[in-house]
Amino acid sequence: MDKHLITGGVPLQGEVRISGAKNSVLPILAGCLLTDQSVIIKNVPHLNDVTTIMKLLGQMGAKLTISEGLTIEVEAGSVDNPSAPYELVRTMRASILVLGPLLAKHGRAMVSLPGGCAIGPRPVDFHVEGLRKMGADITVEGGYIHASVKGGLKGANLKFDIVSVTGTENLMMAAVLAKGTTVIENAAREPEVQDLANFLNALGANIQGHGTSQIIIEGVKSLSGGSYTVLPDRVETGTYLVAAAMTGGRITTKSTRANILESVLNKLEEAGAHISSGEDWITLDMQGRRPKAVDICTAPYPGFPTDMQAQFMAMNTVSEGRGVLTETVFENRFMHAHELRRMGANIQLNGNMAQIEGIPQLMAAPVMATDLRASASLVLAGLVAKGTTIVDRIYHIDRGYECIEEKLAQLGATIKRVAA
Ligand code: EPZ
Repeated sequence: MDKHLITGGVPLQGEVRISGAKNSVLPILAGCLLTDQSVIIKNVPHLNDVTTIMKLLGQMGAKLTISEGLTIEVEAGSVDNPSAPYELVRTMRASILVLGPLLAKHGRAMVSLPGGCAIGPRPVDFHVEGLRKMGADITVEGGYIHASVKGGLKGANLKFDIVSVTGTENLMMAAVLAKGTTVIENAAREPEVQDLANFLNALGANIQGHGTSQIIIEGVKSLSGGSYTVLPDRVETGTYLVAAAMTGGRITTKSTRANILESVLNKLEEAGAHISSGEDWITLDMQGRRPKAVDICTAPYPGFPTDMQAQFMAMNTVSEGRGVLTETVFENRFMHAHELRRMGANIQLNGNMAQIEGIPQLMAAPVMATDLRASASLVLAGLVAKGTTIVDRIYHIDRGYECIEEKLAQLGATIKRVAA
């Protein structure tokens, strides 16, 4: 397994281009299954998860063509195998996102249960219950979801007890071709959900209210083809800005937007960062100062994103003062704390709360990535630790960060990838 070797102590300086959002391009590629026409997706990040979903669509019979690096053409009219096998789904839970589109377009689907991951059991009961309410027959056996519907899905009134991002996305996609109107209450409001709805409307869907907690979908007979440019990745943006804050540097993130991560920018300003932004850029200037510790409580959008919790824990380990992180979305999203402690961090865990007493400097150590955002927090810690940190199992980071060592090196970091 590849490792990252990171030598700390360099304040990051310069500019970095932000890629398209992983959590937007994955549902959008799944949404291509809803039409027989050709769809062009632009600003596609080069990530392992994107490769996985392309394999998934390809083995169903869809034709995918990559052109000019960041653009993919998808033609799903040739899909004749509406299934998602375990060997692909187990590497990427988001594969569950093909369930709604396959049922809506083909009336049947066999999709492996995603199973849990390091951060929690990650059930998909909301997805299954919502599709049943829309008329699908669904049985779960042998680790697979077997779904079918005769005469097409029907519009329904759906309500989430807990906000679910991919749950909202799956049911919204299923509703696009259903007969009648579907109302989703307590829907997820994430920018990636809005991006998916805008993409589907560009293909002729009729979705209103996305970005609010009530989404209304009027079913249409079919979707056309079209082209769409994926939203910038707000978590990648936030990760680089935290890296600059921790190292006392000054960077500009380009091809991104400030209005999709306001809660993160507010917390960085609370930590003492000077932030300025324009239409497609954000600059963070720490003016050489050490960050101040901040308290964080994760919540569904527009609250503070759980996907930025690990990165802020890393920052709090070297900030002035005490910071308390409360994780309300996932059951087990503090795996990075154990690894940060190996670098000298002072972290007390108590249920879903982590109390961090900032120290002047971490010490380099061999550490192990456990999940995507945990691995990002370990890389960030390596950027400020004394000595050379070795981060193992960085296949986790390759799932969600395009060319991270090149982008960090461009900002002055001393980082390299070594094959195991
Ligand atoms: C999406 O996961 C993101 N993944 C996650 O990003 C992100 O952390 C999460 O939303 C929360 O923002 C993608 O978009 C591909 P949820 P998702 O359904 O949809 C419970 C990353 O690092 N739940 O919003 O799987 C669930 O257990 C990843 O990029 C059920 O109980 O998350 C959790 O406690 C990690 N039953 C809560 O809801 C269900 O059927 C929110 O989960 C579905 C969810």
